[in-house]
Amino acid sequence: MDRVIIFDTTLRDGEQAAGGTLNVQEKLEIAKQLERLNVDVIEAGFPISSPGDFEAVRLIAKEVHTPIICALARAVPEDIDRAWEAVREAKHPRIHVFLSSSDIHLGYQLKKSREEVLHTAQEMVARAKKYTDDIEFSPMDASRSEPKYIYQILEAVIDAGATTVNIPDTVGYAIPDEFGNLIEGILKQVPNINKAIVSVHCHDDLGLAVANSLESVKRGARQVECTINGIGERAGNASLEEIVMAINTRKDFFNLTTNVNTTQIYKASRLVSELTGFVVQPNKAIVGANAFRHESGIHQDGVIKVPITYEIMRPKTVGIPASSLVLGKLSGRHAFKERLAELGYSLSEADLDRAFSAFKELADKKKGITDRDIESLIAEEQRTVSEVYHLDRVQISCGDRGIPTASVKLIDPEGEVLADAALGSGPVDAVYKAINRIVGVPNELTEFAVKSVTEGIDAIGEVLIRIESEGITYTGRGADTDIIVASAKAYMNALNRFLAARKAAG
Ligand code: KIV
Ligand code: ZN
Repeated sequence: MDRVIIFDTTLRDGEQAAGGTLNVQEKLEIAKQLERLNVDVIEAGFPISSPGDFEAVRLIAKEVHTPIICALARAVPEDIDRAWEAVREAKHPRIHVFLSSSDIHLGYQLKKSREEVLHTAQEMVARAKKYTDDIEFSPMDASRSEPKYIYQILEAVIDAGATTVNIPDTVGYAIPDEFGNLIEGILKQVPNINKAIVSVHCHDDLGLAVANSLESVKRGARQVECTINGIGERAGNASLEEIVMAINTRKDFFNLTTNVNTTQIYKASRLVSELTGFVVQPNKAIVGANAFRHESGIHQDGVIKVPITYEIMRPKTVGIPASSLVLGKLSGRHAFKERLAELGYSLSEADLDRAFSAFKELADKKKGITDRDIESLIAEEQRTVSEVYHLDRVQISCGDRGIPTASVKLIDPEGEVLADAALGSGPVDAVYKAINRIVGVPNELTEFAVKSVTEGIDAIGEVLIRIESEGITYTGRGADTDIIVASAKAYMNALNRFLAARKAAG
């Protein structure tokens, strides 16, 4: 086979990243974008882990039809039954069973012998197989396990019905050549390996997740597990965009393809960053803000003459909007709508009306409105859709004399207007205290960052915050030309996410 299966685990391993919690609707939105990206498999969650995870997997299974929808399960009956409950309505369901195989995990964590683990793995794969044909098995911590033992487990689970065997570098310990040898060993030594696809799942603790994945592909693996922007547990997982674009750009080397529609990469990256609150570093390969920016005069000269001189991929291949057309105060609804379509948004008439009036309001404050401004504006509009409390008004007085003072007006779920005011050590503190007096959710602010969307003194400011309440972290984002207003919006966004999660948990 000359195609690599792209297995996206943004919604499962990616969501395991500290502070990256997503709600059910956000997961569905990402799953729909992954479908547009045309990934082969979406690992939608770990259903036994929480009612919210179960619900998200079930909803995605019902509403996303093209890719395989996969649910994760430990090698225990309750997990497998619950995983099946969650994916049973999918057009293409998969159950992914995992069990540790390294002596470190067996000895210190599971306290089981190799024989017991081998038997359990086989038995649990057989149980999953009663539900569906498409079964994946992962020997967790494979890269620190004895290869001969991995061969035995894989032979047993393939006999029991596993159709994909996934080799995880769970702790990101492997080195490319060594990991490649393991994959090659599996392909040579496991007698029934021709009945299964060999997959890899690499973590980035040593910054080698993509290198290990690509080495494995070179040695015969035909499924790669990865996440958008490389998010995931600890240092993250192999980044989907880097894997796909390496295979795509270096066809001459790999002689392989993927099914991915690369023009949807940028949109997927922006969406995941927006909803998880994980900022993409500017120098991130493929999707970072600087990935296609040429600063050196010599490079600029070359690119203007012939792009291939310094550009190995074209920005449009990964869906980075090519146009530098700037909209402004005089731009009409039609031009705005067209620009949105070019950026990949298709809004309902009602949403378009709201977005257009937000655009007009922004155009009064800011001279030229760029694509990044429009993306920020649409994201701000989308954040208000599932609000519990709506920020109606915020007024601040501050300076180097006197005490910063804020007054706020919120609209509660019944439509009642609630107003309050507070003093603070600074304007943001005053606003947050005023909001707290109305909403009454005890929390701690653990992160606060502000950045401008574009250059220029009139730029939109985007605020990202994280609050911790009842032991869980919630992310909030807000955008406005006034950074104190953006801070208030970000705080409301985090509080609304907390309130929605509390309501969903009953
Ligand atoms: O890293 C890992 O080992 C995993 C398994 C559940 C596949 O995420
Ligand atoms: Zn993992």
